[in-house]
Amino acid sequence: MKLNFDYVKVTDDEILSYQDKVSKIVENLDNRKKDINDFVGWLDIVNNYDKIEYDRIKKTAIKINNQAEVLLVIGIGGSYLGAKAITDAIKTKNKLEIIYVGNNISSDYISDVIDYIKDKDFAINVISKSGTTTEPAIAFRIFKDILYKKYKDEASNRIYVTTDIKKGALRKLATKEGYESFVIPNNIGGRYSVLTAVGLLPIMCAGVNIDKLLEGAKLAYLEYSNKNILENDCYKYAVIRNILYEKGKVIEVLANYEPKLHYLLEWTKQLLGESQGKDNKGIFPSILDFTTDLHSMGQYIQEGLRNMFETVIFVNNSQNNIFVKEEENDDDNLNYLAGMSLNYINKKAMEGTIKAHVEGGVDNILITLDKLNEIELGKLIFFFEYACAISCMLLDVDPFNQPGVEAYKKNMFELLGKPGY
Ligand code: PA5
Repeated sequence: MKLNFDYVKVTDDEILSYQDKVSKIVENLDNRKKDINDFVGWLDIVNNYDKIEYDRIKKTAIKINNQAEVLLVIGIGGSYLGAKAITDAIKTKNKLEIIYVGNNISSDYISDVIDYIKDKDFAINVISKSGTTTEPAIAFRIFKDILYKKYKDEASNRIYVTTDIKKGALRKLATKEGYESFVIPNNIGGRYSVLTAVGLLPIMCAGVNIDKLLEGAKLAYLEYSNKNILENDCYKYAVIRNILYEKGKVIEVLANYEPKLHYLLEWTKQLLGESQGKDNKGIFPSILDFTTDLHSMGQYIQEGLRNMFETVIFVNNSQNNIFVKEEENDDDNLNYLAGMSLNYINKKAMEGTIKAHVEGGVDNILITLDKLNEIELGKLIFFFEYACAISCMLLDVDPFNQPGVEAYKKNMFELLGKPGY
């Protein structure tokens, strides 16, 4: 994984002026990472995870693969986006199909899933730190009922719960019914939890190598411990975001050239948006899939309001390569591409787009992954989590809370007549 800041009009002196601030933030995070009552546990998770639970995750994933054709992963926000990001990005030979539910309240979506699993063997991994979030709770109630009707006494052997160690309705239920359960550490919040059982169980169920994912995160942890701001790409990214924000670039377009990375960007969008957008401040993260969206949003980026910058993720080597063939008649005038791989053409599209956007006044930060594999994705996860926390703290915003999310819930509960609202 490499970062390229050549397409950003920010000077080294501007970046260096943040050295003291960043050093203090880094020290603050380091001091807090072992505190079980704080929210900085994610920073140390690669060194400090529960090895016994980790082994249990691996064994449970094998069990689920043997007992089911479909695993329903029930969760919303930080309780599903990380797993979805990785299971979409990495294709494996595992037959188990993972379907994510409980991330919306759509009857049509849920009834399609009910229909789809009707004649299939299935199991459930319900994930909720609070154990009380409405969307996954509704889905769990619905699918639990179907599961119990189908498997009777065997049903409880097909439910896997990931939640807080003590608190919440889900923990109570898991204890009461004897469901196999996993813990979301107290000091890791939802959107920073992909490298805990929250992400690791479904990711392992999909056949993705979680050892390598953690290894990648650990490599990034080591790489980004260099205290020199000009030599640390993670600090640099956090600082450049803030410098651009101060210059009026209030939107960050996160773009990829690989559709398999769409949910990786969804995960990043949640991480950055929910962490930084508060106190009437924060960069608004939006996501685009290129080249697809160059034909929908490309016009706006090139010539619309100049209030954005782009962070582009490109994968250098694809697993498969398709080449354009020569045709005798060249009716479609494509022979000039003959012999070229799609990966090469995609890369030229990316280079051409960056040049155009930079000339149009949109600064670009380029992140290149060598390949789409566990190591690179592990690095990317740690990179964004760390950069996000630093970037929030540079703006004097708490990266680990989300008080604003309560507003819609309060109104919805009132409208639905929930007791106490
Ligand atoms: O980052 C967060 O804390 C949120 O996005 C939560 O993950 C999301 O709201 C789901 O919460 P819970 O896991 O408590 O159901």
